[in-house]
Amino acid sequence: MSTGATQAGSHAVRSIMLLKLLVYVLAFSLPVLFYIRQRRVQSPSSGTSAATTTETDEDKSLKTIMQPPRDDLDPPKCDPITLKELEEYDGSDPSRPIYVSIKGDVFDVTRKRDVYGKGGSYNIFAGKDGSRALGMSSLKLEDAVPDYSTLPENEMKVLDDWHSFFSKRYNIVRRVSDMPEAVAPLRSTAANTEVDSF
Ligand code: HEM
Repeated sequence: MSTGATQAGSHAVRSIMLLKLLVYVLAFSLPVLFYIRQRRVQSPSSGTSAATTTETDEDKSLKTIMQPPRDDLDPPKCDPITLKELEEYDGSDPSRPIYVSIKGDVFDVTRKRDVYGKGGSYNIFAGKDGSRALGMSSLKLEDAVPDYSTLPENEMKVLDDWHSFFSKRYNIVRRVSDMPEAVAPLRSTAANTEVDSF
């Protein structure tokens, strides 16, 4: 009897020790597992190297779909043109150049006839000054008007970025002579090109 009791006792002691060991292992491993998991969850959105890599890749792919700046542009020409005259250059006549005006500066975009010509995705900007729509990032016909004077500051910045984008890729060939009065104090000059991120 007493041997049996001793055996049962030592068995119980071993079980308790095993249980204690299990508790210690869990107590140490759980925080470690939790820490590893936390790091994995945080990295895409917390500015760690993983997140930075993803953003950079996206930025790169966005930049590569846009045409690069050119280094063969002519000095800007400021021959005046009226908004009415500008309509002739909307891409519907294949023998004429295509013009896009931004803040009154008229860019020759003829080499991108597929984009700005008839049926092109950005034909809405051809043969006119659609500065307001560019600032609003809008492709609505009613927004493509020359009066951008009421754009909020952030949209004014977008418009300036587009002006800068075009300035680095297309020749300025004319200057609109009858832009709305409201924008007169806001107009850029061809010589005063904004610096931006494009
Ligand atoms: C889902 C929305 C849009 C997509 C997927 C898109 C896509 C693109 C792509 C791929 C290009 C490069 C085209 C090329 O170089 O041939 C481009 C250029 C451009 N996009 Fe968009 N776009 C979008 C919305 C807009 C909006 C809302 C505007 C209005 C302001 C806009 C205005 C422009 C302009 C002005 C260019 C420059 C074209 C040039 O190189 O002369 N886009 N877009």
